[in-house]
Amino acid sequence: MALLEVEDLVVQFYTEDGTVRAVDGISYEIDRGETVALVGESGAGKSVTCLSLLRLLERPGEIVSGEIRFDGRDVLGLSDEELRDLRGNEIAMVFQDPSAALNPVYTVGEQIAEAIRAHEDVTDETARRRAIDLLERVEIPDAASRYSEYPHEFSGGMQQRVVIAMALSCEPDLLVCDEPTTALDVTIEAGILELLEDLAAEFDTAIQLVSHDLGVVAGLCDRVQVMYAGEIVERAPTEELYYDPKHPYTVGLMASIPRIGDDRDELPTIPGSMPDLVDVPTGCRFHPRCPYAEEACRLRAPSLVDVETGVPADEPAPNDHLAACHEYTDDLVDGLDYEVVVEDGGGLE
Ligand SMILES: Nc1ncnc2c1ncn2[C@@H]1O[C@H](COP(=O)(O)OP(=O)(O)OP(=O)(O)O)[C@@H](O)[C@H]1O
Ligand SMILES: [Mg+2]
Repeated sequence: MALLEVEDLVVQFYTEDGTVRAVDGISYEIDRGETVALVGESGAGKSVTCLSLLRLLERPGEIVSGEIRFDGRDVLGLSDEELRDLRGNEIAMVFQDPSAALNPVYTVGEQIAEAIRAHEDVTDETARRRAIDLLERVEIPDAASRYSEYPHEFSGGMQQRVVIAMALSCEPDLLVCDEPTTALDVTIEAGILELLEDLAAEFDTAIQLVSHDLGVVAGLCDRVQVMYAGEIVERAPTEELYYDPKHPYTVGLMASIPRIGDDRDELPTIPGSMPDLVDVPTGCRFHPRCPYAEEACRLRAPSLVDVETGVPADEPAPNDHLAACHEYTDDLVDGLDYEVVVEDGGGLE
């Protein structure tokens, strides 16, 4: 059994402009100790997915259907107390802005010690020692003396290390990091990512790392899932995704990564922008921006299938490289005689 199992999750926001289909039927799993990236442009639904895992979504957002199981337990069915326990002990989250996660009126050490005491019955002295130890683990120099400093005395990168120390204080099985380095300097980013990689190995913590930047996740993650307009459009082991991307959207994202020795003046970007999730395009949601789009792409939604055999994602033992694109998978799917779903306005036979 996987550590985290998400099945057909649908999350909507009810707004004046209509219903925003922020996450529209995604399914995925994360194993123990595995690091999995969730990438995609702004508005793809990455943060909403993360918040849903911890049931931290706020109105007007709502999980409409689907299942989330953590270590076999039904997260959507947990009581408030069980939920607190899950958040305190098993899943921890690191957000983009470290200063928002820290309380300016307490020292960083007190905040970590408090996080430890919140879920473990230990003496003040033990909590203090453990907090200093955690500060050392996240490579804060002079941890013992910096214990007594306030958040504003730390740089942004050091603050994010403190937040990571707090998140690790309960030794979670899953760490959800939503753009943990986006607010930081690029020179600091690499250090934080390395730290996460080391900690994941040391604590055997699984990580879901969200980023809009495929370059950021390359070194850290075992697998990558690409999200577009509320759906997962491709997923593969990291290397395979980088060397052999199948979905034109992934190809577009890859082309926009700066590379060493790059002599391009301007990096290519994908033309157009993410659709309005109140009124998503028919068929493949990427078709209005896709250089390969054909009539079929406008008419029917491609499903996520194994890129080699065409076996759908929800059937057992597919390969671990899947994509949702007619360009690559139609022949496979036709060959296997799978039923094709015709969406609104369809009619292609
Ligand atoms: N409070 C809200 N009210 C209405 N719509 C929302 C709300 N929060 C998110 N959404 C919508 O849900 C969709 C997904 O948003 P989400 O924040 O998950 O994107 P993201 O992939 O994390 O983007 P970014 O890279 O900018 O962080 C977007 O279309 C967004 O407009
Ligand atoms: Mg986000």
